[in-house]
Amino acid sequence: MPPAIELKDISKTFTERNWKTLLFRKPVQTLALDNVSLTVKKGEIMGLLGPNGAGKTTLLKIISTLVTSDSGEGTISGLSLATQSLAIRNKIGMVSTNDRTFYWRLSGRENLDFFATLYNLRGTKKTKQIEKSLQLIDMEDKAESRFMSYSSGQKQRLAIARAMLADPEVLLMDEATTSLDPIARRKLLNFTNETLAKQEQKTIIWCTHNLHEAEDICDRVTILHRGKVLYTGKLDEISISESQNIEQAFSALVSFSQNAPFTDAEIALTRKKSI
Ligand SMILES: Nc1ncnc2c1ncn2[C@@H]1O[C@H](COP(=O)(O)OP(=O)(O)OP(=O)(O)O)[C@@H](O)[C@H]1O
Ligand SMILES: [Mg+2]
Repeated sequence: MPPAIELKDISKTFTERNWKTLLFRKPVQTLALDNVSLTVKKGEIMGLLGPNGAGKTTLLKIISTLVTSDSGEGTISGLSLATQSLAIRNKIGMVSTNDRTFYWRLSGRENLDFFATLYNLRGTKKTKQIEKSLQLIDMEDKAESRFMSYSSGQKQRLAIARAMLADPEVLLMDEATTSLDPIARRKLLNFTNETLAKQEQKTIIWCTHNLHEAEDICDRVTILHRGKVLYTGKLDEISISESQNIEQAFSALVSFSQNAPFTDAEIALTRKKSI
C-alpha cells in the first residue's frame, strides 16, 4: 500500500506583484518551501510545527491542491498531485482559520448544506452527514443562526464540521483549535486521536503552535523553518539537554538553525530515552 501522503523535494516561491513593483521596484520573492520531502502513513497523525512564516500553511495548501508547487512531486492516497488534483480534492478535508470561506449571511446549516452539495452529497446521506457534523461540534442549537452572528470559536467549530462532511481520508488541520474553549479543544483532540486516527484510520496533518497539543496527539512531528524541514520524528526525542522541556528544546533547535546554516549532521539531537 502506498503511503497516504508522500512528498518529494517540493519547492514554492511566491512572487508579489503590485503597481509599485510594476513602476518602481523588483517584485518581492519569498521562498516559502525549499525541497520539502514528507511521508505520512495511513492512520498516522503527523504534527506540523514551525515559527510564523515557516511554510506550514503553504505546504497544506499544496497537499490540498489549492496551490501548485514550482518543483517536486507528490502523491495523496496514491494519486498524483500534478495530474489528479480533482480526485485528490474528494479525499481531503481542510480546517483553516480563514473564515472568509463561509457565506456570512447564511446560517450554519445552510453553509454546511451548500458545501455538502459541492461534495456531491445528496438526499438523506447529505442530511445525515450535516446532522453528524453539527453534533460533533455541539452546534445543533446555533445551526439556524447566521454565520455572521457566530463567535470566533463557533466559526472555527463550523469549519471543523465542514471538513468532516465528506468523510475524507486525509484531514489537514491548520491551527484547528484556535479560538476553541478548553472543553471543545479537548473534545476535538480526543475525537481526532481515538475516532478519526485509531478507529477510522484517517491520515491527519495537525499544524499547531501548541507543542503540548502536538505532544498529546501526534505520532510524529515535522518541524519546518524558513521553508526547510528541520526535523521529522517523535517529538519527545527532541532534546538537547536533560533539563530542557519541550518548548525549550524546540526553541533551541530553531534558533540553532537561525544562527548557523545547518545540516542534518550538525543538529545534535540527543535521545531523551538514552540519557
Ligand atoms: N500568497 C502569498 N503571496 C506572497 N507570499 C506568501 C503568500 N503566502 C505565503 N507567503 C509567504 O510564504 C511564507 C510562508 O507562509 P505560510 O503561511 O506558509 O507560513 P506558516 O508557517 O503557515 O506561518 P504561520 O505560523 O504564521 O501561520 C511567508 O513568508 C509568507 O509571507
Ligand atoms: Mg499558517
